[in-house]
Amino acid sequence: MRTAKGRAAAAASRKAKLIPLRGGAGAPAEAPESKYEAIFNQSSDAILTILPDGRIDAANQAVEEVTGFLKGELSGAMIDVLVPDPSKHLHRARPLTRELLASAGTFEDIAILRKDGYVRFVDLHVRRVMSGQEPLTLALLRDVTGKKSMERELITKHSELRNAYFQLEKKNAELQAMQETLVQSGKLAALGELAAGIAHELNQPLQGIRGYAQEIQHHFSAAAAASPEIEAGLREIVSNVDKMAGIIGYLRAFVRKSVEEYAWADLHLAIEESLKMLGRQFAVRGIAVERDFGKDVPPIYANALQLEQVFINLATNARDAIEATGRGRGTVWISTRFKNGFVEIDFRDDGCGMNERSKAKAFNPFFTTKEVGKGMGLGLSLSYGILSKLNGSIVVQSELGKGAAFRIRIPRDFREIG
Ligand SMILES: Nc1ncnc2c1ncn2[C@@H]1O[C@H](COP(=O)(O)OP(=O)(O)O)[C@@H](O)[C@H]1O
Ligand SMILES: [Mg+2]
Repeated sequence: MRTAKGRAAAAASRKAKLIPLRGGAGAPAEAPESKYEAIFNQSSDAILTILPDGRIDAANQAVEEVTGFLKGELSGAMIDVLVPDPSKHLHRARPLTRELLASAGTFEDIAILRKDGYVRFVDLHVRRVMSGQEPLTLALLRDVTGKKSMERELITKHSELRNAYFQLEKKNAELQAMQETLVQSGKLAALGELAAGIAHELNQPLQGIRGYAQEIQHHFSAAAAASPEIEAGLREIVSNVDKMAGIIGYLRAFVRKSVEEYAWADLHLAIEESLKMLGRQFAVRGIAVERDFGKDVPPIYANALQLEQVFINLATNARDAIEATGRGRGTVWISTRFKNGFVEIDFRDDGCGMNERSKAKAFNPFFTTKEVGKGMGLGLSLSYGILSKLNGSIVVQSELGKGAAFRIRIPRDFREIG
């Protein structure tokens, strides 16, 4: 066993030997020691030799670049000068430790401390060698800081890209939903314009038909030549033309812009007007209407046209639901009453009814269970909107196969309520 003093002396003598090679390419062959020194110093990997007590024995040129220390500063110093403070941010890398140097092996991504206080990352190869009688630790350090930071950057960029992709997918889905809504409402607007146009176009030939029918009527009665059948037929023509003109007039009023006017409106009249619209459709499907109107229902402050729209929507749905049963007949019950400042309307049918899903979604815009072209899925959502503006409400009760019942409540005057 050597004394500490002896060891220091031995280290000093070894240090003295590790002097950079002088001479150049043409220099004569060197002594074996010098040759190893040359290899040691010219190695592109940083090499340290470390004594058993943790003192640095020697360092080559490349160590200077990796650690920022001069070779002279390191030799004789404790290896601890290269050990980073573990409390510092090491990017989850392992720090250099004495224990690491005590075990031979290869360790990737090891953090070492530089003279300037920065941390660098190295791949560390530890070998145990004998130098004469003394065991030495040989540490090879390959700087991988650049590679590691690129790797880390790549990982960050990758996760950023992934996030951006998910965001994009989400936005895309939103955009698609919006586009669908837009297309639907665009269709609706186009349909409204079309209806107004058709109403206008049909009205004129219709008035023509009416005029001719009346002229023939007049002609026959003047000549007293008509048979009762012809007279009855002509009367039918005129009365049907009047019905059609009524519907057309209604359509035109419906499409008209002034749907925002509020006034005192007769609820029962609005119900009757909407039933008139559907009168023939109910008749041909064998649908009867049973009314139970409250005598004390007062006028309500609302837009009569919008009220009609609500009842047309409910009546149309009842028509479809009854038709869907395939029975060829059915009943719609409408009852009204006045209670605590609210008018209450129950609108019930004995149609096909709704399942839980339909019930939950019935008031959603564009929800429909009807085939393309038959339902737009807007009737109930529009009705809901109209009633909300009146501070009113609409709820549904239904069971599959057992019909549906809608209850509407509207304050007599929505201006008096919150
Ligand atoms: N009286 C009813 N009986 C059974 N189902 C109904 C009734 N009213 C509405 N529904 C259901 O609610 C859906 C939405 O109705 P609505 O908003 O008026 O749109 P649409 O009639 O165009 O389908 C209907 O497709 C239907 O499934
Ligand atoms: Mg509908």
